[in-house]
Amino acid sequence: MKTHVALILSLTGALSMGVMAVERPDLPDPPTVYPTGELGRMVKLGEEIIYNTNTHPLTKQLVGNDLKCSNCHLDGGKAKTLGTFIGTATSFPAYSPREKTVQTLQNRINNCFMRSMNGKRPIIDSEASVAMATYVTWLSSGLPITMNSKKPVNPAFSKIWWGKKWVLPMIKAATPESYQNGKQLYTEKCASCHMDDGQGLVAAKFPPVWGGRSYNTGAGLSKPEKLPTYLLYNMPLGNPNLTKQEAVDIALYVTAQPRPSFDLDKMLFPREEMGHYNSKVLVEKHTVSSNFAKWGLDIDELRGDTLISDLEVFNQETAISGAGMGKKDKLSQAN
Ligand code: HEC
Ligand code: HEC
Repeated sequence: MKTHVALILSLTGALSMGVMAVERPDLPDPPTVYPTGELGRMVKLGEEIIYNTNTHPLTKQLVGNDLKCSNCHLDGGKAKTLGTFIGTATSFPAYSPREKTVQTLQNRINNCFMRSMNGKRPIIDSEASVAMATYVTWLSSGLPITMNSKKPVNPAFSKIWWGKKWVLPMIKAATPESYQNGKQLYTEKCASCHMDDGQGLVAAKFPPVWGGRSYNTGAGLSKPEKLPTYLLYNMPLGNPNLTKQEAVDIALYVTAQPRPSFDLDKMLFPREEMGHYNSKVLVEKHTVSSNFAKWGLDIDELRGDTLISDLEVFNQETAISGAGMGKKDKLSQAN
């Protein structure tokens, strides 16, 4: 218990001083002076939402898990590491191969709501949506526009986020031994904060990394090919020190645990409440198993059990109703 308290104290210190991560010194420092007047108010409101997404009155009803944007975008996107928002706004509008349309920054933020927050899309041009886009744009003050015709991501990390060149061969070569190695490494390097059961300790600001209160199977980090790069740059928090192989093995273990399934159809509000959904792709489903099957991997074989198929009962509706969705959703639950 003592070590635990010490750990929490040292972490709280780390958080308040700014989170240590692998830095990209070539990125400029984030601005420190807020715009004046109404624009400044919106930047501050957006910042507040990004740090408190699941509890903020403007967004809590749209979040279906225990996460805040800043749990993944460290220091609210001000950290100069993978997940930074410094420079992000310069590449929007950007083409997105997933939606097969050109996405604005508000659209892109909404996609994190549906996937990483396991929730619902804020209405475009609602106060929350404008505020978040304003804050993210403020973090690119002074930087030149760079049109991205390939993907809607931060230009500094455009090639790195999807580090497929080195990740894919390692993912495809995964064996039950890699999974077991990942499990062991998780216990050694991650469980002190995220706990053995992956549920974190939300009261101590350690977010869940799997389970019904974490991101769903449509989120970037739920993908075995994307989580390794995130871990290389950001985890263990304050001391990112993994080798590529360790990051891949840990990612295999973490992404092979149960989490809410993604079904686009269930994430969207009825059209009249949501406004226009800017996508040419209207059918999209992912499960933990399908995220592995995509690379020719059989999840039961990797894990050495058949638990995942059974556990896919964690679904979005359960998660959302737990988070206190609007009246309509509660009614449909009761029916
Ligand atoms: C010292 C405590 C600590 C350790 C050790 C640690 N993390 Fe984290 N991790 C955090 C905190 C705290 C956050 C959220 C950061 C924030 O809110 O500023 C986080 C965020 C994350 C996230 C994104 C948010 C989420 O809930 O999914 C992932 C994924 C993650 N950690 C995985 C790992 C993995 C895998 C390891 C082991 C290699 C690890 N972490 C080690 C404290 C830690
Ligand atoms: C569970 C982790 C997680 C959470 C929580 C999360 N995001 Fe993201 N976000 C990601 C990942 C991973 C990517 C990029 C990878 C991809 O495109 O698949 C991303 C990309 C983005 C981008 C695109 C530009 C870029 O920086 O590359 C924006 C903007 C963004 N997120 C905003 C938000 C906002 C606002 C929230 C809160 C409402 C949020 N995110 C919550 C993981 C997260």
